[in-house]
Amino acid sequence: MMSSGLCRSLVSLLALGGIPSFSWASPLKVDIDARADSWPYGPLVTSGRDIKNTRGQNVVYAGTNWPGHGEVMIPDGLRYQSIETIVSKIKSVGMNAIRLTYAIQMIDEIYSNNGKDTTVKDSFTKALGQTNGPKVYSEFLAKNPSFNDSTTRLQVFDAVAAECAKQNIFVHLDNHMSKAAWCCSTNDGNSWFGDRDYNVENWTRGLSYMANHGKNWPALTSMSLRNELRKPDSNPTLSSQSYNWRDWYTNIKKGTSAINSANPNLLIFLSGLDFDTYVTPVVQGTAFTPGSDKFKAADFQGYTNKLVLEIHNYQNSASNCNSLKSSLYNSGFQALHADDSKAVNVFPVLLTEFGFDMTGSAWQGTYATCIASYLAEQKAGWFIWVISGSYYIRSGTQDFEETWGLLKHDWSDWRSSAYIEGGLKPLVKATAQG
Ligand SMILES: *[C@@H]1O[C@H](CO)[C@@H](O)[C@H](O)[C@H]1NC(C)=O
Ligand SMILES: *[C@@H]1O[C@H](CO)[C@@H](O)[C@H](O)[C@H]1NC(C)=O
Repeated sequence: MMSSGLCRSLVSLLALGGIPSFSWASPLKVDIDARADSWPYGPLVTSGRDIKNTRGQNVVYAGTNWPGHGEVMIPDGLRYQSIETIVSKIKSVGMNAIRLTYAIQMIDEIYSNNGKDTTVKDSFTKALGQTNGPKVYSEFLAKNPSFNDSTTRLQVFDAVAAECAKQNIFVHLDNHMSKAAWCCSTNDGNSWFGDRDYNVENWTRGLSYMANHGKNWPALTSMSLRNELRKPDSNPTLSSQSYNWRDWYTNIKKGTSAINSANPNLLIFLSGLDFDTYVTPVVQGTAFTPGSDKFKAADFQGYTNKLVLEIHNYQNSASNCNSLKSSLYNSGFQALHADDSKAVNVFPVLLTEFGFDMTGSAWQGTYATCIASYLAEQKAGWFIWVISGSYYIRSGTQDFEETWGLLKHDWSDWRSSAYIEGGLKPLVKATAQG
């Protein structure tokens, strides 16, 4: 794919006055220049607590989650709106990033099918049935007429990434589940390395596949390892023998290596235990119990400046902002503070999920306002859960209404314009543009 940056480099060559004379070496040179001299000014790297672009500027993601890990395995909302409309909506309020989720099952199926991805048409029918599948598929085509019966699921992801590149929206690609479905519970078979549906080799293969595939997405700047690791309650043996920081460290090293070897340009986000609510042993450099190993930069040789921490927070019933803030600090944000002697390992830290019901006044309550003021104070990146006004299917219910969605059921407009004006836009301003 030709990036707009490449075009711009050619234009500036022409503007310099001569007809450019191409030698064998020049296309390579133009390509390297294009990387550094045009959005997203990547590859991004970390420097202490910050993410930097090639211009040395801080990059702070301020964005929203966009699920694509449900049973249909394509990004949600496209039966109601076009990709361009949804990305434009995100852009219109100043957000600069999406956390785009996918399931490992999609890649497993590509491998089972001799490298061929399933068509969107078949995927709708498989997930929604013989009656609703074709109906929803025709709605999808009506809103997104550039697609057709041979369009595959990954081609839809490609189109989302391409539109994001066009509108300068960073794509952070998140492995949300192994088996495509609503996430998460401790007994859904996807909770921990080695759980029923969570085969570690399939997982690392899927991470590599997407990291490599994503080389064609100029907007892709980072990937996560796995959403919300959690106790495998349906597997007591695994739970007692393996659900701990020691096995976490063993497995996340496999994951980071899979991504970095496939695509060394990407930042890699590490998530913690208990639904990714804390990463404290990484920050404080304490032993990964029951082992004695500690976080070591040497375990990530060659890409220590690619690692970022992420946590989630859903303490929606918080009534005391100071205690919520200290909880956020102790759970991970401490890593932003090199001046804290307990922050042995300094990293950028992002809140990749938080959210609340958009139908009422929760946005004015303690939780929502406290999270916003904390992110502003910390100048930290974030992704709100969630853009979806509805899902193709969630937990067995088709066309599931998402009251936490920034958008209305038909993804046409904001669910709470009061929040967008009074909460979200100020938050964007105080973080990404702060
Ligand atoms: C069908 O859509 C895909 C992309 O989704 C595109 O690559 C292909 O050219 C289209 N085919 C036709 C016949 O339009
Ligand atoms: C791993 O992928 C293979 C296809 O390559 C698939 O048959 C198998 O079911 C997957 N394992 C799990 C646990 O999903």
